[in-house]
Parts: sequence; structure tokens; C-alpha cells
Amino acid sequence: MNKFPEARLRRLRKTPALRNMIRETKLEITDFVYPIFVAQGDQVYDPIAPMPGIFQLSLDKLRQEILEISALGIPAVLLFGLPGKKDDEGSEAYKQDGIVQQAIKVVKDTASELIVITDVCLCEYTDHGHCGIVSGFNVDNDKTLSLLAMTAESHAAAGADMVAPSAMMDGQVSAIRNSLDINGFIDVPIMSYSAKYASAFYGPFRVAADSTPQYGDRKAYQMDVSNSNEAIREIKSDIDEGADIVMVKPALAYLDMIALAKRMFNHPVAAYNVSGEYSMVKAASQNGWIDEERVIQEILIGIKRAGADIIITYHAKEVARLLEP
Ligand code: PBG
Repeated sequence: MNKFPEARLRRLRKTPALRNMIRETKLEITDFVYPIFVAQGDQVYDPIAPMPGIFQLSLDKLRQEILEISALGIPAVLLFGLPGKKDDEGSEAYKQDGIVQQAIKVVKDTASELIVITDVCLCEYTDHGHCGIVSGFNVDNDKTLSLLAMTAESHAAAGADMVAPSAMMDGQVSAIRNSLDINGFIDVPIMSYSAKYASAFYGPFRVAADSTPQYGDRKAYQMDVSNSNEAIREIKSDIDEGADIVMVKPALAYLDMIALAKRMFNHPVAAYNVSGEYSMVKAASQNGWIDEERVIQEILIGIKRAGADIIITYHAKEVARLLEP
């Protein structure tokens, strides 16, 4: 009976009302996290060339930005910092009055309900641009752990609601969990960049965050783009170390990993719709080659349909406007 011609799948596609009724995936503004790049200085509002609509902004401009984000109903921001000076140990990353630590306070003062998530990594703070301490030609995993833990703890002390380690060092989640717990931040969750691939899609971000490695690449710590089983092991080990949310990054070329992560683990899954994914949409749109609004929605629905509970995206403000009743 369930065969053509009795079965006709087109019946439920006939009108907008029917399509709305059976729609399986709907975007909600509460799905989204908006990344922000905070820079030193005053009155800084510098456009990031490959990411139209995204800016580096100073603390005085941040307040205005946060009011807008909060009014749009976006529930969370992810903070990245551009420090005034860099050194080989990324010491501005874990300074009490570092740029992110100050930004956290500004956000919390401006819109206390906004969830403040911080990226925990050293690449924006090291002069060599790698995500940890470099010894010889290697990023030293174990020496880096304590610095990541100090960074996360300093963010929590400044009022961060959640920390998001992205350095891809083995053991970073447990190092951070321990340090948060012994310092009294038992309630601060960790969203771990668990399956973070060594991706060319981060190119525009590295312009935005001034974090391009000065030599070499990140392939000795970020994952090989070809691997799926290994991503599952990464996610599993982060969960075992205490990650509250696990992340797949980038999103679009890794929808299979988002789906697998969601199916295999009883854990919230975040997906990072990264800078290069954003830039491609903007470039095509500026050329008049695509319908930008529809493409943005289609991409984000795809990421959610794959299984993402949380989507980090530079499109968050645009989506908020599209979703407004
Ligand atoms: C820091 C970090 C990166 C991104 C998020 N956190 C860059 C990298 O690993 O090179 C990329 C985000 C994006 O491309 O939007 N390690």
C-alpha cells in the first residue's frame, strides 16, 4: 500500500501551511552563539576584509555591540582577544586584566543575561602564532596544559559563564576542569573543541584574530581532515575528561561528524560554522551569484538537521533578523 500511486509524497508539499506543519527542523535564535573579536585601544571598529560585517572592536565599542546582540535575542557570545603585545609564552592570555578578561566584565555589566563563552587558546597571544609553548619544532603538549588551565581560570575569575578550549592539546579538558574546580569554579562548564580539524576554512579567522602561525602549520595538533574514527576518539576522550559540550569544527565539510557525534554520545553537540564558510557566502553574495538570505538559512538548517544542538556562527545577527516575526 505504501507505494506509488497510493503513496504520493508531494501531497504534504502542496501549500506553505502544509509544509510548515510537517517541517522537521526549525531554527530558533536560542540555537546560536555569536563570535566577537575584541582588540586593544579606543574607538576601534575595524572591518575584517575577508569577513564583511564582522569587526575587531575595542572595549568602548563592545558595549554598544552587546546591547544590539542582546536586543536581537542572541543568547550567547564567544569572545576572542587581540592582545597589545605577544610573546613566546602567550602571557597576555592569562593576565588578570588581559583583553578578554576585561571584555568579559564589559559584557556582564552590559547584559548580565548573555552567556559569555571564552575561547581558550594561546595562538592569538604567542609571537609565533602556535597554540602552545614551542620547543624546537614541536608544540609541547604538557607544558602548554598549565597555561591553558591558567587562561581558563582567569576567564572564570573575570566572570565567564563557560570556557571553550580550542588548542587541541591532549589532556586540556581535564587540566582545565581540575584548575576550575580547585579554584572554586565547579559550576563553570567546558565546551570543548573536540573534533577540530586542521582546516583551510580558518583562513579568514586568522586575519581577524591575527593568529597565523609564523612558521609551519597546525597539523601536528589539529586533526587530519580525512579522519572520522579518530574524531570519535577525540570526542570520547573529551567527554571522559569532563567536557560538558563537545564541538565539531568546521561544520559544513564535517556534517557527517556532527551526525555521528550526536548519534554516538548522549551529550550536547556544538558545531562551528567557521570563518571560511562565512566568507564564501559573503563573496558569492556580493557578486550577486546566490540568494544570501536563503543560502544562510539552508546552511544553518543543514547543520542543525545533522544534529547540532548549538551553532556558533558569524551569521547569528543576520539570522536573528530573519527569524524576527
Ligand atoms: C583558535 C581558534 C581558531 C578558530 C577558533 N579558535 C583558529 C585556528 O585554530 O587556527 C577558527 C574559527 C574560525 O575560522 O571561524 N585556535
